[in-house]
Parts: sequence; structure tokens; C-alpha cells
Amino acid sequence: MSKIKYGLNALLHYYPFITELETLPNYEESAKELDQKGNFTEAHKQYEKAIQLEPKNLDLRCNFAVCHGKMGNLQTALDELCLILDDDSDYSPALENLGRVLIMMGLQAGAEGWFSLFEAGHLYRTIQAIENPQPVIVELGSCYGLSSMIIAKALKNKPNSKIYCVDAWEGDGSSVFGKTRDNIKAQAHQGISFYEIYTQNMQNAGVYEQLSPIQGYTTNVVKDWSEEADLIFVDADHSYEGVRSDVRDWKDFVKVGGQLLMHDVELEIAGSEQDSGPGLVAKEFLGPDSNFAQGSLVDTLYLARRES
Ligand SMILES: C[S@@+](CC[C@H](N)C(=O)[O-])C[C@H]1O[C@@H](n2cnc3c(N)ncnc32)[C@H](O)[C@@H]1O
Repeated sequence: MSKIKYGLNALLHYYPFITELETLPNYEESAKELDQKGNFTEAHKQYEKAIQLEPKNLDLRCNFAVCHGKMGNLQTALDELCLILDDDSDYSPALENLGRVLIMMGLQAGAEGWFSLFEAGHLYRTIQAIENPQPVIVELGSCYGLSSMIIAKALKNKPNSKIYCVDAWEGDGSSVFGKTRDNIKAQAHQGISFYEIYTQNMQNAGVYEQLSPIQGYTTNVVKDWSEEADLIFVDADHSYEGVRSDVRDWKDFVKVGGQLLMHDVELEIAGSEQDSGPGLVAKEFLGPDSNFAQGSLVDTLYLARRES
């Protein structure tokens, strides 16, 4: 009898807890089901309830953020994903989805690019992490504006930042390759220049006012350059010689403590089949004998901090 009584008491004592345990997977499961069926508004409500029960569950928070994106609220999704990364910078699903959201924002504005999801997310977080309240950023190679847009969005709360975007934006598209070149040529036939496409895209993205585009060759622009930068992003001419001269000529404009960022760095030691042109240049100018600390690689984005 006393055993039965004890059992009942225990059940009553733990009842709220047991219901909670039962309820949590239900909310999560039904959210996922609704999500898969494309009913994002209802899925969103279910995720919200599940998060109330388990606010530290990053998977739930990430799915919730992505659900915002699927509902068309890309900016809310972006903000939520950044909050998750603030709590745990190593939580890679949030970085990947941040990149997805940014690439979608770019596509909506007309700015197609070449970034992987992780690269897009990493660029945003790298720029956002710059402590200077008035940072100077130089982007070499802007094309349709995806990376310009990402940089500008990451600095939207720093109105005194300076973002220089250097690109030849050659009217016949000869400074770009393959599909992009054909696209530029086709638009040029309709009387729209490459540069106009860029400015239109940046207006569509709502970031044009933040940018200072400079139309010219990086090799010429650098001749009159004098400003130190918190970060220089090298993504223009991708031939070995082109990247080499850009890194050689621009790296000294990175201020001490600032960063040099390169795209398309493939390194054998990091598992690539061979070193790419940008990879060889990174080894030559940013190696152990240079004044840059050992860099980090996220997919093919190589980031190195200037030490002295
Ligand atoms: C790969 S795209 C840049 C992509 C861009 N950073 C993004 O992520 O959206 C390369 C760009 O560099 C430009 N470019 C190539 N060589 C250049 C040079 N020597 N000077 C200036 N721009 C150049 C091309 O016009 C092209 O738009």
C-alpha cells in the first residue's frame, strides 16, 4: 500500500515535468512537419513554443530563424542567426544559413556571386567583428556587388564606415570570365553598362549610399592610394600574376592589427588537389616570414591579421 502511495506521489510530483518532456518533442516534431509541408507560418508558431520550453536549444533557434527566411523575412532571419552565433560562434549551421540568407538577399537585388554559403556567412561575421567604430574597408573586385552588399549590411550600424569598392567594370565584360562576361555583353547590347548594373543592384539592396565605388584597375588605383584600411579584400584579377600584384601592392595599406582577406585560396596542405594562384600568393606574401600572423581558411576565404 505504502509503495503504491509513494508511486502516486512521485507521479504527481513529476507530472508537470513529464508533460513538459512529452510536449517539447511534439512542438518540435509538428514544427518540422509543418515546415516540410511549406506551412511556414504555423511551423513558426510551433518553433516559438518549443523554444519557450528550451531557450538554449540552438537547433530549434536555427530552424526558427530559417523559418523566418522561408516566410520572406530575410532581415529577421539574418538577425536571429547572428544572435545564435553571438552565443556560440562555432555553431556551423547558423553560419551556413547566414550565408544562405545573404546570398538570397544578393540574388533578390540582382547580385549573383561566387561565394559558398560558409564564405558568405564568414565575410559578414568578419566585418561585423571589426571593433573600430569608423572602419575603412577596401574591396578589390566587386562585380555584381554580392560582397559589397554583405560588407555594407554588416556595417549598417556604423554610419561613419568607409567602404571603397574598386572594379574596372569594363563595358564589354573583358575583366570577368565565362558566363558573367556573356551576361555583361548581353546587357551592354541593351545599353546598360556593367557599372550601371552594379549600382542598380546596390540600390536594390538598399546599401548604395554606404558604398564608395571606384571604377578603375586595381593596379592603377593603388598608385594614388594613401589610406590605411582595417580590412582589404582581394577578389579582382584571379590570374596568378594579377593576384600577386594586388597582394604585393595593397598589403601595406592594411593597418597594423587590420586584416587581409583573399578569395579562392586553395592549398594542398588544406586538402585541395593543388595550390591555386591565390593560394601560391598567400604562401608567398603571408607566410611565416611575413608581418602577417598565420591565417585561417573557411572554404577558400583566407584571412590573415597584420602583426607589425
Ligand atoms: C570574382 S569577381 C568579384 C566578385 C565579388 N567580390 C563578389 O564576391 O561578389 C572579379 C571582379 O574583378 C574585376 N577585375 C578583374 N581584374 C581587375 C583589375 N585588374 N582591376 C579592377 N577590377 C578587376 C572584374 O571586373 C570582376 O568584376
